[in-house]
Amino acid sequence: MTPRAIYLDYSATTPLDPEVLEAMLPWLREHFGNASSLHAWGRRARVAIEEAREELASLLGVHPAELIFTSGGTEANNTVLHSCCFHSQLVDTVVYSAVEHHSVIHPAQALAERGFQTATLPVDHWGRVRCEDVAVWNRPRTLICVMHSNNETGILQPIEAVRRSAPEALLHMDAVQSLGKVPLNLAQLGVDFASFSAHKLYGPKGIGALFIRRGIPFKAYQYGGSQERNRRAGTEPVALIVGFQVAVRKALRELEHRTQRVQQLNHFLRQLLQERIPGVLFNTPQEEALPYILNITFADAHTLDGDALILGMDLHGVAVSNGAACSAGSMQPSHVLLAMGRSLAQARAAIRFSLSHDTTEEELLYAVQVLEKVLAPMRD
Ligand SMILES: Cc1ncc(COP(=O)(O)O)c(C=O)c1O
Repeated sequence: MTPRAIYLDYSATTPLDPEVLEAMLPWLREHFGNASSLHAWGRRARVAIEEAREELASLLGVHPAELIFTSGGTEANNTVLHSCCFHSQLVDTVVYSAVEHHSVIHPAQALAERGFQTATLPVDHWGRVRCEDVAVWNRPRTLICVMHSNNETGILQPIEAVRRSAPEALLHMDAVQSLGKVPLNLAQLGVDFASFSAHKLYGPKGIGALFIRRGIPFKAYQYGGSQERNRRAGTEPVALIVGFQVAVRKALRELEHRTQRVQQLNHFLRQLLQERIPGVLFNTPQEEALPYILNITFADAHTLDGDALILGMDLHGVAVSNGAACSAGSMQPSHVLLAMGRSLAQARAAIRFSLSHDTTEEELLYAVQVLEKVLAPMRD
């Protein structure tokens, strides 16, 4: 087996699209002005930012004034939780699905320590929330956080049904993994807040956005200048914002083509795994999930070493991930898979393949051959 370099971790991050980089460069070189300045340099930067906001808003089906730029998904999620509880004083209870990203779970836990009521929504064996559990929290002064799609398994949550189950509560949707991969119409989904990030769709790292529905008396989480209509202080990173705009524009323009391609790849990978890896168990269903992610574990997981699996694949040049998080110096198994009812061993041995429209069948074949090779000595 000739060693290769195969990246199958596109849900962690993507490379920067050369077209995106091209669009960004003038804003790093000659048009370097601060958008808050009154002179020509500043005005040019201001126009670029507002044009980006307008285009992104129209692509998402919202009003430009409903979008603020943030440093990414983590900041957008933290902003919603902290602002709703402290700065805007809109809620006293935060409810979140058990499979949320840590940038929702950890601020919620911090809020619990400060005396706010918090609760977790359980999920079914595919990681989906149930509307009857959501309906329990249908009351004012409550923030419900349910992500659009999960970063470890790709499962899509029934957001419209969640909205209908809790019309009285505020609803926040982390759409970081979904943007540019599935059609998103925020008005139709009926959410109050939504978080986005550029680096999951070939945009630059360090830029994202937060949707705040018009009419919500939202107050800033971060103080300083009056940028973003007093809702997020800090000099706007013009080049990153333009990069974000171009990445989303391109992803949505190519949405149909990319989706078809990735669906084929997903199907191919699923078949290969089924044929060649005995005891493979899928943590991602065939329907109602992003085709970009395929998460697996093994029936004999208790005999396998999850970290060794990932590292073994890496030694052969295949980059995948397992959703484990490093906490206090040790690897913690995925909270998502545990919430779905997988055993500790199955959660520890999980592998997440995450694909791109640029992935090839040949790369997937090589990755599965490597997996066979890495599994063999562990199973012997
Ligand atoms: C679902 C989800 N939410 C939030 C984030 C955080 O986004 P960012 O890396 O832009 O801070 C990620 C990134 O891994 C994610 O997958």
